[in-house]
Amino acid sequence: MSRRPIPVRRSADSGGNPFANSLHQKSRSSPLLSIGLVLVGAFLLIGYSYSGSGGLGGDKEALSKAEGDFSCTSEVQKALPMLKKAYGEAMRKVLHVGPDTCSVVSKLIKEEDTEGWGVEPYDMEDADATCKSLVRKGIVRVADLKFPLPYREKSFSLVIVSDALDYLSPKYLNKTLPELARVSMDGLVIFTGYPGQQRAKVAELSKFGRPAKLRSSSWWIRYFVQTGLQENEAATKKFEQAGTKKLYKPSCQVFHLNVYH
Ligand SMILES: *[C@@H]1O[C@H](CO)[C@@H](O)[C@H](O)[C@H]1NC(C)=O
Repeated sequence: MSRRPIPVRRSADSGGNPFANSLHQKSRSSPLLSIGLVLVGAFLLIGYSYSGSGGLGGDKEALSKAEGDFSCTSEVQKALPMLKKAYGEAMRKVLHVGPDTCSVVSKLIKEEDTEGWGVEPYDMEDADATCKSLVRKGIVRVADLKFPLPYREKSFSLVIVSDALDYLSPKYLNKTLPELARVSMDGLVIFTGYPGQQRAKVAELSKFGRPAKLRSSSWWIRYFVQTGLQENEAATKKFEQAGTKKLYKPSCQVFHLNVYH
């Protein structure tokens, strides 16, 4: 019985307007509210103008392009003339293993007296038509490096791997490196990032499943000694000499290893 009369009396107290109380409360909190609204509006506007002009999207693309340029797979392409000098005859049948292998294989098969083959260890969702055609022809295969490679022993004269090893733990390296050596006749070349380059790969995390672990040269050399892999000193020397002549400075670590069968 007391419930009904109370609100009536209250609204009468505040000048006959039943909403006066709530209005009053709203106006008290309004400075904060309006600042918040202005901020939200500003964010929305900035976000809209960026996406509208393609600013943000474009930057992102440019960024991942730049990261792509930083990869050791593109370094392999730059190093091909030096590799030819270092390996000569052994460049006749090359297997490249690593992300974006199509780019290397396409370049290899344009060279005279060179066969190019590729293993792509990650998904190829964004592969272009040329790449898809290489896959259809069986020149490029998609294969998880944690399993044995789909090739017979000594199928290739030279095996070049880039970037892919950075995503493998030592446990898998112990399996994968002997596999790479197994399918090679004359040598194994490893292109791997320097520790400082970690940042460049973070954006590709989803593709590779785990972050790249970029190891120092001393780590690699210790690892090679531990696992009985030996440096190919002659090839290393020739590669470096050819590089000096062409003023080539690799932005990745390059290791030349012997393969024994
Ligand atoms: C890898 O192989 C080396 C040499 O055989 C061994 O010392 C090392 O413990 C292995 N690492 C792993 C993680 O299995």
